[in-house]
Amino acid sequence: MKLIKTKDGEEMSAKAFHVIKDIVKSNPYAVLGLATGTTPLGLYRCIIEDYKENGTSYQHIRTVNLDEYQGLPKSHPQSYAYFMRENLFRYLDIEESNTYIENGTAQNEAEECARYNKLLSEMPRDIQLLGLGRNGHIAFNEPFTPFGSKTHVVDLTENTIKDNARLFDDISEVPRKAFTMGIKQIMHAKQILILASGVNKADAVYKTVCGEVTEEVPASVLQLHPNCILIADSEAASKL
Ligand code: F6R
Repeated sequence: MKLIKTKDGEEMSAKAFHVIKDIVKSNPYAVLGLATGTTPLGLYRCIIEDYKENGTSYQHIRTVNLDEYQGLPKSHPQSYAYFMRENLFRYLDIEESNTYIENGTAQNEAEECARYNKLLSEMPRDIQLLGLGRNGHIAFNEPFTPFGSKTHVVDLTENTIKDNARLFDDISEVPRKAFTMGIKQIMHAKQILILASGVNKADAVYKTVCGEVTEEVPASVLQLHPNCILIADSEAASKL
C-alpha cells in the first residue's frame, strides 16, 4: 500500500483529485467506483471546479457506487443516489444512465444483489474510491464481514447508525439496513484510492496500514491489493 500524508483534508482532496483526473484524461471511457460520506466531498468539489474551469469531460465515464440504504428511494434526500446527484453528477456532463448504484427499494434483496454482482463483473473498475469507517469498515462491510463477500444486505452497527445520524433529522430515521458491494468486489478494482481525514480515523488508519490482515478490520485487506493508495491527513495519520 502506498501511503501519502497530507497536512489537512484540503490537501488530501487535491491529491486525490489528481489521481482521478489522470485516469479520466488517459481513458475517457473509464469506470470509476465512487463513495459517499463526508470524506470525498472535497474531492468532488475539485472535480466540479476542474470541470467548470477546464471542461474535463465525463460524457463517456461510467460510475458505480459502493452502497445504498435499504428502503430509501432515489428521490429521498438521504439516499446515496441523491447524495451523488447533488454533490457531483448534476454539475458534470455525465449521463445519468451511466451512473450505477444499488436500488434501495428493490423488493427482492437476493435479485438486487445478483443484478449488482453481474453489473460489477461486466464493468471492471479502473479505480475504486473508498472512505474509512472508524471501526475500519469499507463500504458497509462491517467488522467480521468475510473477505470473500459479494454484494449483500447488511444490518448496520449501532456505531455506524450513530455516525450517520448527523445527516438525518433524528436517529430514528436512519435506516437499519443497507445494500453494499462486497469486499471481494472492492478488491477486484484495478486500483484503490482510500481517503481518511480527521483524528477520529487515526485508529482505523493505524490498523489498516500496520495491523494484522484480519476480517475484524475490513480495511486491513487493502494491504493485499497490488495497487492501493491511502491518502491520510496529518490527524488521520497521527498514530502511524
Ligand atoms: C460511503 C461508505 C462508507 C464511508 C465511511 C466513512 O459510501 O461506503 O464506508 O466511506 O463510513 O464515512 P465518512 O466519509 O462520512 O467519514
